[in-house]
Amino acid sequence: MSTGVPNRFRRCGLWYPQALQWNARQPHKWIGRTFQVARSGKVAVIGAGFYGSTTAQRLAEYDIFETVVLTDIIEGKPEGLALDMNQSRPIEGFETKVVGQTTGPNGEGYEAIAGSEIVIITAGLPRKPGMSRMDLIETNAKIVRQVSENVARHAPDAVVIVVSNPLDEMTALAQIATQFPKNRVMGQAGMLDTARFTHFVAEELGVPVASVKTLTLGSHGDTMVPVPSACTVDGKPLSELLPAEKIEELVTRTRNGGAEVVALLKTGSAYYAPSAAAARMARAVHEDSGAVMPVCAWVEGEYGISGVYLGVTAELGKEGVKRVVETQLTDSELAALKEAAEAVRAKQADVQHL
Ligand SMILES: NC(=O)c1ccc[n+]([C@@H]2O[C@H](COP(=O)([O-])OP(=O)(O)OC[C@H]3O[C@@H](n4cnc5c(N)ncnc54)[C@H](O)[C@@H]3O)[C@@H](O)[C@H]2O)c1
Repeated sequence: MSTGVPNRFRRCGLWYPQALQWNARQPHKWIGRTFQVARSGKVAVIGAGFYGSTTAQRLAEYDIFETVVLTDIIEGKPEGLALDMNQSRPIEGFETKVVGQTTGPNGEGYEAIAGSEIVIITAGLPRKPGMSRMDLIETNAKIVRQVSENVARHAPDAVVIVVSNPLDEMTALAQIATQFPKNRVMGQAGMLDTARFTHFVAEELGVPVASVKTLTLGSHGDTMVPVPSACTVDGKPLSELLPAEKIEELVTRTRNGGAEVVALLKTGSAYYAPSAAAARMARAVHEDSGAVMPVCAWVEGEYGISGVYLGVTAELGKEGVKRVVETQLTDSELAALKEAAEAVRAKQADVQHL
């Protein structure tokens, strides 16, 4: 067949200019006559529900890992999803292999995650309309504890990213159950909440999301702390572009961003934006990029707060959280952050008994 496309740009009968463009920022090398992306390592996603499966798909499509492992307790579900994802490889043009593994109540099957550099815990129930994240605490604590103990046994060197809700408490519990150093256990919430805030501001002003910079700190719940003073559009302070009441309205919508999706879906909670957030965090760890992201991290002295997992901005790399990066806050934002810390501190202390 003569299409004018050089052989080296063909793969599996398809040629993939899009895949080449999409991968343009990744390390590449020529192998024989084929242009290949350098991929390495293993990342595991525990829980193959909506959040877990979309995260696994995003990680696989990055094409930077050798293997993505997806596990669940529902017999055949992770294997079926992995097979399906692998069959998308020739179309989307990625080589990462997805391995599905059912796990048993006594840790059977966890050998599949051995050697993982990153483990993302998504196992647990999502909210139903009208529920708060805190309503999930007892059920999800049992699940997260059992999963974390198996992660510690089979992937003792991994960086753990927790997403199960209630997020701040489940992150603290995963650290207790794994006994990993606190920098190697973090939670995903701030990336998502910040993305929601950015989206709402961009929609309100009719500007590209890329021109908007926002920030949320605090907890992934009622004491979420959106930080309007750190928000800009094309470098201009948000307060110069929108009246205070409108900013407050967007802040409230951000705080209720998860519930808004839950109410519309009626069963289950959001997963497209959440999975994008967790996958980006895993990528920053894998690439040891030093990217600064809003995450749930252990705070020890920053902002005058100590001894609690809290939503803050942190630099991510191979060792998980390299350091918490403090942001300039107004007095009222700092007070709200301290209030959030006290609210989650009490719950994080209780969680060790669940
Ligand atoms: N942090 C965030 O920003 C954020 C955002 C959205 C959802 N969430 C949370 O993520 C979690 C997952 O959400 P979802 O939409 O994927 O729910 P889901 O119901 O679609 O999937 C959960 C999966 O976990 C599995 N599971 C249960 N116990 C397990 C165990 N012991 N080991 C392995 N797998 C197990 C279930 O079989 C199911 O497939 C929920 O707790 C939800 O509240 C967090």
